[in-house]
Amino acid sequence: MKQELIKLAEKHGTPLFIIDHDKIRANYRTFKKHLPNVQAYYAVKANSNQEIIKTLFAEGASFDVASYNEFMQIYNQLKSFDHKDKKFFVWDKIIFSNTIKDRDALAKIKKYKPLVTFDNTDEIKKIKQHCPTAGLVLRLKVPDTGSQVEMSSKFGAEPGDAASLIQEVFDAGLVVEGLSFHVGSQCGNFDNYTAALNITSDILNNARKKGFGLKIVDIGGGFPAKYDAQSPKFGNLAKIINSECKRLFPADVELIAEPGRFMVATAATLVSEIIGKARRDGKIFYHINDGVYHTFSGIVYDHWQPNFSAFKKGKTEVCAVVGPTCDSFDKISLSENLPADLQIGDMFYTVNIGAYSTASSTKFNGFDGAKILHINQ
Ligand SMILES: Cc1ncc(COP(=O)(O)O)c(C=O)c1O
Repeated sequence: MKQELIKLAEKHGTPLFIIDHDKIRANYRTFKKHLPNVQAYYAVKANSNQEIIKTLFAEGASFDVASYNEFMQIYNQLKSFDHKDKKFFVWDKIIFSNTIKDRDALAKIKKYKPLVTFDNTDEIKKIKQHCPTAGLVLRLKVPDTGSQVEMSSKFGAEPGDAASLIQEVFDAGLVVEGLSFHVGSQCGNFDNYTAALNITSDILNNARKKGFGLKIVDIGGGFPAKYDAQSPKFGNLAKIINSECKRLFPADVELIAEPGRFMVATAATLVSEIIGKARRDGKIFYHINDGVYHTFSGIVYDHWQPNFSAFKKGKTEVCAVVGPTCDSFDKISLSENLPADLQIGDMFYTVNIGAYSTASSTKFNGFDGAKILHINQ
């Protein structure tokens, strides 16, 4: 693999973000193998690259979008595959799972009769006024402790408020189609799923008793990517989800999920290059041509710990690796065990950088960010 990375970097330049589509397909198939009854709506936010969308679409994936632009990105993809005897039903392929949508976005998606999530009264009113054609999914607040990125402090209705919110939707002449939750991203505490599924089933069963025919259960994202040998095991989690879903939900419930990181994290590798080297307070600082404002943005937004490997061997010491901008915040890592004798022009590679990386990269200081290269497409 190392030789291949060097060849690609020499040919295409650095920083180079290499997306392996075989790996994306393998991740999607692993997901489906372990959760055969769950339709995967890939969370586009994890990496919205159009080639990734195409690969997952061809595998049979559906999509979770967070904005009007993401909605149209997927809608246009669907349209390009529609033909006269096979048209996609938009709910089967897209869920708009940002619980807070601006009025303009709602008005613009009205004609597509979208499936959208909500978690509060004001949102119901907004949907009624600007997008009354929508089907609604109520997002619940569920335990998220032990996840790399927690979600429940910003999203989700209190389970105790669910019954009245559901009633409110039907009173407004709209329809609640189902329930959703998110246990937090890179979830290592599988009890979160058990708790969330139990909360969801109580609310679903009570709503059905009142005659509200909720039929979708959306188990969100959070499925752990295999960053290393210590990562939580997805296969073990899937066993819990399968048995809990079988026990808790009527057979006619449609199960969907919104995996983001699981599909793409392990599918990309970044090759970066040393552009400067200095000793600061005795420590070697490798200045590289990618950083926190660019492909390593996951350090800030995703609480991610990067990994660096050098292509060259040598006596190692604890070094800092920092980005190319003039901001002192642009420090990727202050303690990486790396060869001490690397020189300007030498390269590093960072594996498992496919999720929440290029997606949140900026143009800060005028740097373009990494060039994207697709392999095994
Ligand atoms: C609503 C929603 N669904 C799905 C995801 C994807 O989560 P993950 O990457 O943990 O699978 C996110 C991540 O922020 C989200 O906010």
